[in-house]
Amino acid sequence: MERTFREQLFFLLLCLSVLKGDCRYIENNDISKDELHSLFTSDLRREIPDLLMYRRPLRCLDMVAMEGQFTFTAETPQLSCAVFFMGEPNEVISVEYDSVDIDCSGGDFITVFDGWVMKGEKFPSSQDHPLPLYERYVEYCDSGSVRKSVHSSQNVAMVFFRVHSAGSSFTLTVRKHINPFPCNVISQSPEGSYTIVIPQQHRNCSFSIIYPVAIDISEFSLGHHNNFPKAVALA
Ligand SMILES: *[C@@H]1O[C@H](CO)[C@@H](O)[C@H](O)[C@H]1NC(C)=O
Repeated sequence: MERTFREQLFFLLLCLSVLKGDCRYIENNDISKDELHSLFTSDLRREIPDLLMYRRPLRCLDMVAMEGQFTFTAETPQLSCAVFFMGEPNEVISVEYDSVDIDCSGGDFITVFDGWVMKGEKFPSSQDHPLPLYERYVEYCDSGSVRKSVHSSQNVAMVFFRVHSAGSSFTLTVRKHINPFPCNVISQSPEGSYTIVIPQQHRNCSFSIIYPVAIDISEFSLGHHNNFPKAVALA
């Protein structure tokens, strides 16, 4: 009797570690499940009252990994600010303006960038991103509309802003949406196993890791198009 119990416990532990660990992203790549999941979460979201939304103030230099509503209020002129947004590898991010009180004609701006710019490098690079570079910058003062939402093409996005007068402010709502076929990914996790599937598309994909790590490529398949160069750059 005791032995059976111990076996059951061991089996449970095994299941838990499998669920928690390596199989996570492989499971997440299952299309029908993701579509279901995205349907489910978008329906749920519509029902979540605004009161329950996570809210916090934004700093001039900030990193946001959660969904919610974020408000920046300038206490002094802030000429060079940047907020980095990040989701899970299988998510994309949308940024929506809820209210904006800045002086566009006085040189203030808020720009959403589809990706990250770090130390002058863009992620994903222009070779890998589906949009031309100029389309990846969406400037609030040009489009001018509150309630307009900007979607990222991968799991990271960024907002640059400049405000000249104290009291200027803006509020953004950030949401995450399931991306069934992530192509360019920045990983925030120092370990794990990832599967990227790019069905029927001629595009460059990348997987960047922001920690120094060891990489082991366990399987690599380019399907039927064997004439493509199989290049893996490890930087
Ligand atoms: C993929 O990247 C290469 C350079 O690394 C570039 O020449 C090529 O145009 C890119 N392909 C696409 C579809 O963007």
